[in-house]
Amino acid sequence: MTHIVLVLNGPNLNMLGTREPATYGHETLADVAQLCRHTGEAHGLQIEFQQTNHEGQLIDWIHQARGRCAGIVINPGAWTHTSVAIRDALAAAEVPTLEVHISNVHKREAFRHHSYVSGVAVGVICGLGINGYRVAIDHFAHLLEA
Ligand code: DQA
Repeated sequence: MTHIVLVLNGPNLNMLGTREPATYGHETLADVAQLCRHTGEAHGLQIEFQQTNHEGQLIDWIHQARGRCAGIVINPGAWTHTSVAIRDALAAAEVPTLEVHISNVHKREAFRHHSYVSGVAVGVICGLGINGYRVAIDHFAHLLEA
């Protein structure tokens, strides 16, 4: 049975590549998707990759992962710092979750230092650029092989 890892991206991440490149780099969301797919293939994992600017859509995808996906890699974007609803959806889904941020949120404005998601995540990866997604998928592969 092939394990599915769901990679979810929140608001404004469709703008990667042109959005604040000094903070987020020059790679696009398509580059992130390709990196995730290649990493998944190397481990025999199936990657589902999604991005939305609509919070309810993200919540629906989290619910649909319940009992279906082996792991969730999520970059909730700004909802990290605002959304109890996304935290509650992840708690309800009961799928092991890794939180990823491209930038090091702790080096940035104080409002980015708190995450509603971290309390329901297995771990948090931030500041590694888009390589953070690869690290997250590698970690799930490691857990699933163990
Ligand atoms: C981000 C960090 C958030 O604070 C910000 O709102 C984003 C992107 C990151 O990947 O570094 O949209 O999640």
